[in-house]
Amino acid sequence: MLKTHNCGELRLNHENEIVTMAGWVNRRRDMGGVIFLDMRDTTGLVQVVIDSGKLNTDFATAEKLRSEYVIQIRGRVVARIEGQDNPNLATGQIEVIATELNILNPAKTPPIQIDKEAGEDESIRLKYRYLDLRRQRMQTNIRLRHKAIQYCRNFLDARGFLEIETPILFKSTPEGARDYLVPSRVHPGKFFALPQSPQQLKQLLMVAGFERYFQVARCFRDEDQRADRQPEFTQLDMEISFVERDDILDLIEEMMRGMVNEVSLLPLAYQDFPRISYQDAMENYGSDRPDIRYDMKLIDLSDLVAESAFKVFANNVKEGKPVKAICAKGCGHYSRKDMADLEKYVKKFGAKGLAYLAIDPKTEQVKGPIAKFFTTEQLAAIMDRMGAEVGDLIMLSSDVKSVVYEVLGELRQEMARRLGLTDTGNLAFCWVIDFPLFEEGLEDGHYAPSHHMFTSPKREHIPLLDTDPHAVLSEQYDLVCNGFEVAGGSIRIHERPLQRKIMELIGFSMEEAKEQFGHMLEAFEYGAPPHGGIAPGLDRIIALMAGAPNIREVMAFPKNQSATDLMADAPSFVVEKQMDELHIQPAGRGLIAIQEAEEAAE
Ligand code: AMO
Ligand code: AMP
Repeated sequence: MLKTHNCGELRLNHENEIVTMAGWVNRRRDMGGVIFLDMRDTTGLVQVVIDSGKLNTDFATAEKLRSEYVIQIRGRVVARIEGQDNPNLATGQIEVIATELNILNPAKTPPIQIDKEAGEDESIRLKYRYLDLRRQRMQTNIRLRHKAIQYCRNFLDARGFLEIETPILFKSTPEGARDYLVPSRVHPGKFFALPQSPQQLKQLLMVAGFERYFQVARCFRDEDQRADRQPEFTQLDMEISFVERDDILDLIEEMMRGMVNEVSLLPLAYQDFPRISYQDAMENYGSDRPDIRYDMKLIDLSDLVAESAFKVFANNVKEGKPVKAICAKGCGHYSRKDMADLEKYVKKFGAKGLAYLAIDPKTEQVKGPIAKFFTTEQLAAIMDRMGAEVGDLIMLSSDVKSVVYEVLGELRQEMARRLGLTDTGNLAFCWVIDFPLFEEGLEDGHYAPSHHMFTSPKREHIPLLDTDPHAVLSEQYDLVCNGFEVAGGSIRIHERPLQRKIMELIGFSMEEAKEQFGHMLEAFEYGAPPHGGIAPGLDRIIALMAGAPNIREVMAFPKNQSATDLMADAPSFVVEKQMDELHIQPAGRGLIAIQEAEEAAE
């Protein structure tokens, strides 16, 4: 090794040792005749003193040093003089007096500053990701990622799980997003699909008799990017035979609790994860991924406003459309303009309007444009049910259930952000269970699975498949943390007839089902055990544990919001010969014109 010690590991107990270190110049201060360096390697920083009187090699070399030069230092560890300690640095009680300096590689001035966050545009960070990753925060995040995955591997290994790799070149899986396709050279016109998850393969591993499987699995989904979505991401994919739902919930809860307690930068809000039914989650939080760190629940006021003179609400209640509301503490001073902005905000989620009532902090009277439509008694009853106090703001929404949920669910989150209720610095997990098997409404006349088509209905609800499929509840469960869905799974169907029936409801003809899933249906005829599984999204969980604002912060080489790798400039055009070999024709002149235009622009 080019070094005997790591920079970040030196302490007072190394005093007087002669050490050799290799790393980067994090920062230098030239005091004329003496140069102070913060020297950095992956373990951290240490102060190096290059004193012309003590350096045996040429001092002129030291004067050439700039940020990010790669250097090797030999020197003696000394205790810092009293009062010169740096309590912010793990190595702050010592420094290294250099006797030899060797430049291993010079560096150009980096386009982003490594030794501090300068708030530059993310695109420059992504273009020079290898420099961005040198920063302390990113080193900490990637290290946290390693520790989290390591924890899970050990946890599962100790419980008899086998880590089994499954193919990346596979067949389209029905997870609901668009597939990334890979054209086959050998089979003209045919394509592999990159897996959206190893769902079918892990179920087939259960049929194969492995009983306990896991994989740190890369998944690929061509969907719109968001802060918590990437085109390729990593799941801790798992499947178990001979289990019931609660076995899986208990196991995952134990693993998550252990992992957070051991590696997370943020602590758990509480050790036990509450289990909330989908129905309760929607009624109380307006979301199937409720952030339960704060209350501000959706409260039903339908009965209280049904008799009021406010026709919109009275009529809606008659038509079976609910009126629900949330109470934002201390927001009673919001101006008409503030309320107009909020109304605009909720209209993005389908709201027709945003009615409100506030208890004026000065007069202690209920005010607001719709107050005049209610009697004093009605207003008192509303405020009482809402738990509203002087200075609070009540916001009401009325429409079909799904719109009210979405509108107030989003508004609840927005108000929580404004009120600082999301700055808790901890992690609140909960389970959401008892999902409907199918989503509301129909897609092209067919039912759409709420999770995926291999999810089992609750046994006692199977007869409802013939009479009222929308009423069927499933064995799906999601793990939610601070308002993010961090894992999803289900107990599966393991019988061919039931699987066929679900496929039919989803709209697969016998031929289509055979063509796409023949291998699954066939496998179920050879003694498939009852089984179930789950897939925690590692990127999301790690981002939450790191307190990061998005999952890109915990991925070494993420893509940007438009699914591009800015560093390598991928995706990129390929030469025509490659296209020919893959039997792909450029989309007429169109593609070539795009390529020529892009090249001309460069
Ligand atoms: P699901 O589709 O719910 O389930 O995905 C499981 C978890 O993966 C994470 N996730 C993502 N993370 C980052 N970027 C994305 N684009 C993205 N999409 C999903 C989420 C989510 O909870 N095969 C099933 C699992 C099973 O049934 O066992 C599946 O993939 O955290
Ligand atoms: P209008 O009588 O239509 O002017 O509405 C009076 C107030 O009620 C306005 O503040 C509207 O934004 C609000 N409002 C109208 N329709 C709804 C609705 N469906 N849900 C909530 N508020 C509404």
